[in-house]
Amino acid sequence: MLPVSKQVKMKLEKVLLLLSLLALTSVSHCDAGEAVRLHATHTDAGRGLSKRELLHRMAARSRARAARLLSGRGAVSAGVDPGPYTNGVPDTEYLVHFAIGTPPQPVQLILDTGSDLTWTQCRPCVACFDQTLPHFDPSSSSTFAVQRCDLPMCRNLDWSSCGKQSWGNRACVYAYAYADNSITTGQLDTDTFTFASAEDAIGGASVPDLTFGCGNFNNGIFKSNETGIAGFSRGALSLPAQLKVDNFSHCFTAITGSEPSPVLLGVPANLYSHTAASGVVQSTALVRPPSSGQNAYYLSLKGITVGKTRLPIPKSAFALKQDGTGGTIIDSGTGMMTLPTAAYSLVHDAFIAQVKLPVHNSTSSSSVSQLCFSAPPGAKPEVPALVLHFKGATLNLPRENYMFELEEAGDNITCLAINGGDDLTIIGNFQQQNMHVLYDLANNMLSFVPAQCNRL
Ligand SMILES: *[C@@H]1O[C@H](CO)[C@@H](O)[C@H](O)[C@H]1NC(C)=O
Ligand SMILES: *[C@@H]1O[C@H](CO)[C@@H](O)[C@H](O)[C@H]1NC(C)=O
Ligand SMILES: *[C@@H]1O[C@H](CO)[C@@H](O)[C@H](O)[C@H]1NC(C)=O
Ligand SMILES: *[C@@H]1O[C@H](CO)[C@@H](O)[C@H](O)[C@H]1NC(C)=O
Repeated sequence: MLPVSKQVKMKLEKVLLLLSLLALTSVSHCDAGEAVRLHATHTDAGRGLSKRELLHRMAARSRARAARLLSGRGAVSAGVDPGPYTNGVPDTEYLVHFAIGTPPQPVQLILDTGSDLTWTQCRPCVACFDQTLPHFDPSSSSTFAVQRCDLPMCRNLDWSSCGKQSWGNRACVYAYAYADNSITTGQLDTDTFTFASAEDAIGGASVPDLTFGCGNFNNGIFKSNETGIAGFSRGALSLPAQLKVDNFSHCFTAITGSEPSPVLLGVPANLYSHTAASGVVQSTALVRPPSSGQNAYYLSLKGITVGKTRLPIPKSAFALKQDGTGGTIIDSGTGMMTLPTAAYSLVHDAFIAQVKLPVHNSTSSSSVSQLCFSAPPGAKPEVPALVLHFKGATLNLPRENYMFELEEAGDNITCLAINGGDDLTIIGNFQQQNMHVLYDLANNMLSFVPAQCNRL
């Protein structure tokens, strides 16, 4: 999810003005550096869905996510249809679990490498979406404090103002919007965060004085049983930035499974030192976005090989342009990979040419819009290799990171987990399964290491 710009600015300023006058009660005030481990669970884990349902939901979410990411970008026409959101399909994939306050109150937040503010729904709720956990209650936390509006954390937000009256004098009132017009507004506060693994709800690392949004007015597409969003982007407010870690990582377990996925804020230095020389660790530079408003993690993708054929896609197809359009991002909130239309059609045609099976047209009977082949009963059909060539890194995707098998209208089909989209290339989390992805922020590098994520 990328923060939005300009067009909703006016609207937001009005909302802010109104909010800063609202009568809300609040309490009063926030360093870190230790490695922190937390767990993410897949959005659909534990819902008892079949593999087929899981994949259908993921496909729908990926399309919706791409639309959401694109809708915030200047060069794309205004009417990007958010489509599947309105059918109640959530667009997120992994929720991180931790707690805020003293004593700790649990939150479960979308792991979002595309935005920086961490926020959760707060009491008193002026407008909140449904959540199963109780709303965060500032008045029952002894370590809760209001962030002051003259501090950089507040002033650097796109939309913030100084609260008056019952907000508390000089409290930071914020509004934070996403490209699909989802929005959270409330008061910027600080409190202690307690990070504990899913199995170990009590104890774990406590970090005082972290800044987060206490969202009293939250509206948009929030339907994944989350209580808010955890920002992991490059922005100053993101959790990695606030925890002052030089790096973080995530390792997503299989999307159709239910095992928790480890998220590390501060990766042990020696984790891969013994394998670095053997080519197991593939590293590529993170590309600096042209404007500070773009906080996503951009990569330099150079090309794609299907089977033995390096496809004739010009490098410019994946490149970030000066006006901020195009580019390749790695995103924790997108399921399947999305490619620009021209690049996608070359990949599509290469698979059709190399897979020795009939194309299965399933669009009339299901929500699968990917390229699918009718598979013979029994064994998983052979498919060509798929290789992503980054500057300095070669990612040989394991089969299960780009193909999925389904039974559709009585047929077994095998499908390519890639969508054609607009000008933005997104490496989704389907492509990152059982891959330890390390974000080295100090050195602006991203590494991929094949891993058994449930054992990390
Ligand atoms: C929503 O979250 C709560 C709290 O973690 C959990 O108990 C519940 O099972 C979740 N519901 C769904 C549908 O995932
Ligand atoms: C990650 O960052 C921490 C400091 O935040 C540092 O001690 C550690 O060596 C780094 N790990 C890697 C793998 O670079
Ligand atoms: C499947 O769809 C393609 C175009 O997407 C079309 O050319 C082909 O004829 C269709 N095949 C069947 C069996 O409907
Ligand atoms: C689909 O595959 C499963 C498992 O390999 C097999 O049991 C089933 O008979 C197949 N269905 C069809 C229609 O071929």
